[in-house]
Amino acid sequence: MRNYYLGIVLSCTIMNLPAAGQTLSVTGLRTEYQKNPMGIDAAAPRLSWKINSSERNVMQRAYQIRVGTDSAALLTGKSVVWDSGTQQSDASVFLRYAGSALQSNTRYYWQVKVKDNQDHESAWSAVNSWHTGLFNPAEWSAQWITSSMADTLVGPSPIFRKVFSTEGRVKSAMLYITAHGLYEAQLNGKRVGQDHLAPGWTSYEKRLLYQSYDVTGLLKNGQNAIGFTLGDGWYRGYLAFEGKRGFYGKHLSGLVQLVVEYTDGTKKVINSDQSWKYSTGPVRFSDLYNGEVYDAKYEKPGWSTVNYKDADWKNVQVIPAGKEALESSISPLARKHEEFSVVKLIKTPKGETVLDFGQNVVGWVSFKLSGKAGTYIQLEHGEVLDKAGNFYDANLRKAKQHVKYIFKGSGLESYEPHFTYQGFRYVKLTGNIAKIDPSSFKAIAVYSDMDPTGTFKTSNPLLNQLQHNIQWGQKGNFMDVPTDCPQRDERLGWTGDAQVFFRTAAFNMDVAGFFTKWMKDVASDQLANGSVPFVVPNVLGEGAAGSTGWGDVATIIPWNMYVAYGDQQILATQYPSMKSWVDFMTGKSKNDLWNTGFHFGDWLFYHPEDDNDGRAAITDKYLIAQAFYAHSTQLLINSAKVLGKKADEEKYTELLDRIKKAFLKEYITPNGRMVSGSQTAYVLALNFDMLPENLRQQAVDFLVTNIESYGNHLTTGFLGTPYLCHVLTRFGRTDVAYKLLLQETYPSWLYPVKMGATTIWERWDGIKPDGSFQTTGMNSFNHYAYGAIGDWMYRVMAGLDTDESAPGYKKIIISPQPGGKITHAAAQLETLYGLTVSDWKIENGVFKLKVVIPPNTTAKIKLPGAAGTMVTESGTALKNIKALGKISNQGNDIEFNAGSGTYQFEYAIKL
Ligand code: BGC
Repeated sequence: MRNYYLGIVLSCTIMNLPAAGQTLSVTGLRTEYQKNPMGIDAAAPRLSWKINSSERNVMQRAYQIRVGTDSAALLTGKSVVWDSGTQQSDASVFLRYAGSALQSNTRYYWQVKVKDNQDHESAWSAVNSWHTGLFNPAEWSAQWITSSMADTLVGPSPIFRKVFSTEGRVKSAMLYITAHGLYEAQLNGKRVGQDHLAPGWTSYEKRLLYQSYDVTGLLKNGQNAIGFTLGDGWYRGYLAFEGKRGFYGKHLSGLVQLVVEYTDGTKKVINSDQSWKYSTGPVRFSDLYNGEVYDAKYEKPGWSTVNYKDADWKNVQVIPAGKEALESSISPLARKHEEFSVVKLIKTPKGETVLDFGQNVVGWVSFKLSGKAGTYIQLEHGEVLDKAGNFYDANLRKAKQHVKYIFKGSGLESYEPHFTYQGFRYVKLTGNIAKIDPSSFKAIAVYSDMDPTGTFKTSNPLLNQLQHNIQWGQKGNFMDVPTDCPQRDERLGWTGDAQVFFRTAAFNMDVAGFFTKWMKDVASDQLANGSVPFVVPNVLGEGAAGSTGWGDVATIIPWNMYVAYGDQQILATQYPSMKSWVDFMTGKSKNDLWNTGFHFGDWLFYHPEDDNDGRAAITDKYLIAQAFYAHSTQLLINSAKVLGKKADEEKYTELLDRIKKAFLKEYITPNGRMVSGSQTAYVLALNFDMLPENLRQQAVDFLVTNIESYGNHLTTGFLGTPYLCHVLTRFGRTDVAYKLLLQETYPSWLYPVKMGATTIWERWDGIKPDGSFQTTGMNSFNHYAYGAIGDWMYRVMAGLDTDESAPGYKKIIISPQPGGKITHAAAQLETLYGLTVSDWKIENGVFKLKVVIPPNTTAKIKLPGAAGTMVTESGTALKNIKALGKISNQGNDIEFNAGSGTYQFEYAIKL
C-alpha cells in the first residue's frame, strides 16, 4: 500500500520516456505552480509544463492535455474526465482545466503532449497529479477540540490522541488538518509530513489555512492511532513589540479530518470530536520569540500508537469555533533545509561558552547530548559577538530566543525545538555544560519550502558574498510570511520591506505561491477606505496603515508577480485591492497632491551622528508620497490594460497626468532642481517618470554630482535604494552604478561584507568601523531590504531580464552590461519555460557570452561594444547563424532576436 501512488507515477515516467532519437519531450508539469500538489481548492486549476528539445528555435505549435481519476486508465486514453483536444497554441503555462466540475478529496492525474514548429511531436508526458481539498466548509464534519487548560495563556503544550480501526483494504487516506495555534501531527508514532510551524500565518479571523496530507503509507490494517500536539505560535504567543500575547485568541484547538477510502469505494471518516483524549507532554513552554522549554521527563513514549495506555488522559472539549474561514494551503510551508556544524567553540573574555555556526541562520539547533535526570542545558541565541568578543543579544529587544532542555537521564538524548524559531549565528550555552563536544550540535535552517530558481556569480569574491548574504536574508525571512527580521520581538510582515525586495526574491527562488498567499492577506487586511496596513497580517491595529512606500505593496507586488511569472490571475485577483489603494491616496489628496498623513519616508537613509554641515540625506516625505502615488497609479493603469479594463485605463491615465503636474508644481523649481536634493529624491523622480524629458538629463547630472560629493557613496534608505542603480543604468551611467556597487566603505553594500556579514543588515552601519554597534533599539543583522540590489545584479550586470510585453520570460532580454573591472558575471534562472542563462567573461580583451534560451520562448540579445567587430557564435560568423534574426546596430552595441537554444558568442570587445 505504501507509496502506491508514487509507484504508479514512477512507472508512468518510465513508460513515457521519449523514444531514442526523439528530440521533443515535455517535463516539469506543474499545477498552480506546484508539483503534484495536495489539497488544491481552485475550481479550475492552471496547468503548466516545460518543453525539452535538442534543437534550436523551438516553439510549441499545439498541445493536448488529458485528465483522469485513474492513472493507469489515463495512460491508455481511457476514463478521461477532460481531453483538451489538440489546441493550436504556443501557450504552455497557466492552461486552465476546463473539464466537468471537480470533486472534493479526489486525485486527478494529467499528462500533456505537444507539437513544435519543426513538425516534431512529443510522446505523452509522465503522468502528474493534483489532489483536491475540501471545496466547501460544510464538508468539514470534524469538530474543533481543545483541552480544559487551553485558556491558560502560558502553559505546556497539550497533546491529543484517538484510536480507530480500518475495516477493509485501504486505497487511500487523506488527512485534513489545521489548528488555532501551531500543530504537529502523528499517525501510529510517525510524524505526518515534513512541514513546520503549520498551519502558517494568515489573518486568521478571515482566512485560516488547512493542510492536506496523503497518509496512506502511515496507516495499518486494523487498529491505528492518531495524535497531535499544539503550540502557541502566532495565534496565542507573543506578537509584535508591545509585549502582548493572545492576539487571535486564548484557546488552542485543533481540527482533524481523516478520510479513509477502501478499495471497494466505501469511505470512513475519522474526525476530531468528543471521543478524543488529551494530556500534556514534554513541551512545557513554547513561543516564537522566546524559545521553548522541553522537559524530557514528561515525554510519553508511544503516545500516538495504539498500545499506549491513556487511562489518565482526560476527555477533550468540543468548542463551537467556525469553519467558514478555512481555505486550503496554496503555498509551501516552512521546512528544514541546510544544516551547519559548529565552526568554532569559543570561550569569550567574559568566560561564556559559545558555539559559532559560521552563518547567521534562521531555524533552530538540534543536538544529541546526555545529562543526569533533572539537569538542563540552555541555548541562548544571538547574531553577533560584541567588540570585545562576548556574546551579544541586546538587539533582540524583548525576544529571549532561549531554548531549555531538561534531561531525563537516559543516555544520549536527541532534541530539536517544535514551536519556535531563532535567528542566530552564535549560541551561548549554560547549565549542564561541563564537557561540550561541538559535533553534538547542528544548526538547521528552516524556511518556506520554495524551490531555488536563480544563481548569480561573478569574478569578484566580495560580490559573491553579497549574493550569498542576499540569499540568506531571503531564506531567513521567508517564514510563511515575508518578515522584516527573524530574531527580535518583531518578525512581522512589513509591507514596505516586502515590496522593495520582491524582484530580487523572484530571481533567487520560486516565490509565486508564497506571495500569492500573502497578497491575499494584504487584500483581506486592507481597510475599508483602501488604506494598507504597515504589517500584514495586521497585528498593529487599524491606525497603523497608509504609509507611502509601504501601502504600495498592494500595487507593486501584483504587478511584479505578473512581470516575473506572466501570471494574469494574480492581477485579476488583486485588482480591486490595487485600485482601492490608489483611490485611498486620491481621497487623501488635495488638488492632486498627497501631502497628509504619517509616512516612514526613506527609512534608514544615510544620517551621520554629528551632522554639523547637513550631510544627512533627508528626503521630503510628501515628495516621496507623491512619487509613489504616481507609481502605483501607473501600475494600476498597466494592469487595467492587461485585464482589458478600458474605462479604468482612461480614468487613471488622466489622474496620473494630474499627479505628475502637481508634483512638478510643488517639488521642482522652474530651473529643474528638486526641493529635496537627495539621491532618493532624484532617483524616485527619474524612475517614476515624474520629470518632463527636458529636465531629465540635468536631474541625472545632479544625482551623479550628489553621489560624487559623498565620495561615490550611496545615501539612500529603503525606498531609494532599489531603484538607484537602475536609474543610473537607464540614463547611461552604469559606470557610476558600478562604483556604488563596488564601494567598500560605509555606506555601501560591500561595507557589511567587509565587516564579515553573512546576511544583509538592516542598517548600512549595523556594526561601525570601530566595531561598536548601532542602537540596540533597531539593529537587525538579518533584514533583506537593502538586498534589493540583487535585482540589478541579475538584470543589468549579468543582463538577464524579461520583456514586460511578454512577461514571465516568454520573451527574454539578454543584455549584459560589464563594468567595474569585473571579468565574469553569470546568472541562471529556472523560469516557467525552463532554464535561461546569461554568462559572460572577458578574457584578453575577448568578450565571451554563453546564452541559454529555453524552448517555446524567444530572446532579444544585445551584445555590448560589438558594433563593427567580427562576432562569432560557436565559431561561425554571426550573420550565418539561422536561429538569429536581423542584426542591428545600437550605438556601440548590436542587437538581434534569437530563438531557443544554447549560444556561445565571442568578439573583441570595445568598451
Ligand atoms: C522594521 C522595518 C519596517 C519599519 C517601518 C521596523 O521596525 O523592522 O523593516 O519597515 O519598522 O519603518
